[in-house]
Amino acid sequence: MSTLPQRHKILFVCLGNICRSPLAEAAFRFHLKKLGGGKARHYQIASRATSGWNEGHGADGRTVRCALQAGLDLSKHQSHQIKSAELAEQDLIIVMDESNRAALHSLNANTSVRNRIRLLREFDPEHQPGTPVPPVPDPWTSSDLQVFLEVQAMILRSTEALLQQLEAGRVKPG
Ligand code: 4NP
Repeated sequence: MSTLPQRHKILFVCLGNICRSPLAEAAFRFHLKKLGGGKARHYQIASRATSGWNEGHGADGRTVRCALQAGLDLSKHQSHQIKSAELAEQDLIIVMDESNRAALHSLNANTSVRNRIRLLREFDPEHQPGTPVPPVPDPWTSSDLQVFLEVQAMILRSTEALLQQLEAGRVKPG
């Protein structure tokens, strides 16, 4: 009898689910595809908002345009707010900043669920171990496209490192 590969459920979360978390979701999928070898079957990936402000809306236009330059397609994305039950099902919950974490804490008080929440930049190769983990800053209010590109670069390198650590067994979901 064949055994089905275990699927890691990974959820990327930000405030609006129109800039950072959809980009992180697409970037993680992109790195998985590069890895090949059917690895994508081992992961179930999604992204959600802590707010309902953009429910059903597509990704932010500036984020979509910058993402295209990196080969990431966000054209089919729709924003959705996280529900408490959905949160509890995840093996790993990756947030962009501490306010995302606080919002999730108010949704679910379970310690086991809370312990599965990690900041994305914990995995950033440019983060110095032993120093506070910086946020992925919210680019939404910025009028400078350079800010969107910097956020994108952070997300691309951090999601790549996250995947490498998961594959090496250095990060254990669940
Ligand atoms: P995100 O950015 O959390 O990276 O998707 C935001 C998008 C929209 C809003 C806030 C942040 N908003 O207030 O609608």
